Amino acid sequence: MTFRFRHLLGIEPLKADDIRTILDLADQYVDLSRGASKHSDVLAGLTQINMFFEASTRTQASFEIAGKRLGADVMNMSMQASSLKKGETLIDTALTLNAMHPDLLVVRHPQSGAVDLLAQKVNCAVLNAGDGRHEHPTQALLDALTIRRAKGRLHRLTVAICGDIAHSRVARSNILLLGRMENRVRLIGPATLIPARAAEFGVEVYEDMREGLAGADVVMMLRLQKERMDGGFIPSEREYYHRFGLDAEKLAHAKEDAIVMHPGPMNRGVEIDGTLADDINRSVIQEQVEMGVAVRMAAMDLLARSLRAERAAGGIHV
Ligand code: NCD
Repeated sequence: MTFRFRHLLGIEPLKADDIRTILDLADQYVDLSRGASKHSDVLAGLTQINMFFEASTRTQASFEIAGKRLGADVMNMSMQASSLKKGETLIDTALTLNAMHPDLLVVRHPQSGAVDLLAQKVNCAVLNAGDGRHEHPTQALLDALTIRRAKGRLHRLTVAICGDIAHSRVARSNILLLGRMENRVRLIGPATLIPARAAEFGVEVYEDMREGLAGADVVMMLRLQKERMDGGFIPSEREYYHRFGLDAEKLAHAKEDAIVMHPGPMNRGVEIDGTLADDINRSVIQEQVEMGVAVRMAAMDLLARSLRAERAAGGIHV
């Protein structure tokens, strides 16, 4: 298996075959992670730095475990909100880190485009762990792996993405990936939380949960991203839950075997009923977390192969 990219900055440049390559390798890493000895040395001798300019629990932990399982030397830098300045400061930080010869740089940043900018300044492979409202490629890949394993395929499915689409990089990356794999994507939410140009992405838009969920194979709920809202996007959380919160009654409009997903962190009782989220017969939320580690192992393995090949060919100064 080879990969033709130096970085993983988004789903946008990936073709269906690239996506399949990552998911196929991730399947192998699920087996490794479930085994008695969860260790491989494919990243041995490489340094991975996780740079999170924005809070994260599962994504950061998952990248750390993924790197350690593959034998990399992993370092976490938690960038304080106070040190968060734009432009020059970000570039300066990148150059400083670059001087320490990292091989894999995992970056989360609150500004859309910041990770791309950083990738242009360093000699290593960069993985986007979420930039503003732009992209969160490993989340879309782990969602895809979860869907493929639960449904047995990743094409010709009807996937409903519900809630705060406008502020969500998870939604954006998922819309791109699911579209590329020839699925039918529906967005459901209040007009204030659906981007005005959503229809240009080739999706269907609904403002009514029951209509939008009818016949869906996959129901993907999103967190109401209050930290990215600067005005009155919803009347109240109670009203929002009533209209858009997923509970058993609304889910009954989807297919009988529809699965329920959520990237986390969840606001129980706001976008999803807590009992439904914990229902192991419908919810695959815990599987998503498990697939997250495997997908990140696969992505870092593939990028490390590209990096080594490029370095061997004299393309990159180490
Ligand atoms: C998402 C994120 O940070 O974009 N969470 C995650 O990575 N698991 C979604 C969110 O914050 O709601």
